[in-house]
Amino acid sequence: MIIAIDGPAGSGKSTIAKLLAQELKIEYIDSGAIYRTIALHGINSFPEGCQGREQEIAEQIRNDPGMIRISYENHTQVMWLNDEDVSKSIRHPKVTSQVKYIADYPACRELVNSKMRIIARDYPVVIDGRDIGTVVFPDSTHKFFLDAQPKIRAERRAGDLNIKPSGSDFEELIRQMEIRDKNDRERAIAPLKRAEDALYLDTSDMTVEEVIASILNHCHRLND
Ligand code: CDP
Repeated sequence: MIIAIDGPAGSGKSTIAKLLAQELKIEYIDSGAIYRTIALHGINSFPEGCQGREQEIAEQIRNDPGMIRISYENHTQVMWLNDEDVSKSIRHPKVTSQVKYIADYPACRELVNSKMRIIARDYPVVIDGRDIGTVVFPDSTHKFFLDAQPKIRAERRAGDLNIKPSGSDFEELIRQMEIRDKNDRERAIAPLKRAEDALYLDTSDMTVEEVIASILNHCHRLND
């Protein structure tokens, strides 16, 4: 079984996907974390950044597939780059600003997609991302699209990053999220969009428990 959860930043995808995986005792694949790990490798290899180096980065990883590994501890995804646990360092703003180049590049997307397909071939999974229900697993029967009002999404992200939800840092966060959203929605390859057969949930006024309950209800209906 593949439960595909797509949506923009701050829609609650990763929180929900993680809890859902724990509840169902299956693995959670955070596709964004794989993009981020490739971006971190790019930054380590090319201090000036990933832009213009995407093909070299993809080739380096293709030639050394063990360079990026995923493991699981208690249903939590751990990302490894050259045998170092980078699960925390991939959240650094430098990586956030560079991941766009990786996400826009078809050969890099293919690397991420093939890693996910290998895991999903052997295990039931919950996967979150931008194109999981549309491009990576279009035949999955369990698809969800989470959304929320932009202000609420920014407030949630501010909470994750320990930024207070007002003032110049918050304004800058909103600006960065708008840029990333626009790029995700408008990119030529695998843009963020709702699959026609995905259940749409606006989580603006929903608690985490309510979102999980809606998803589980829908899954039960699909399984009946
Ligand atoms: O910060 P946030 O949790 O919203 O993003 P993420 O899930 O960590 O993903 C980082 C970036 O990777 C996103 O901004 C997307 O551009 C890209 N991404 C993608 O293009 N396709 C996916 N399936 C997942 C992430």
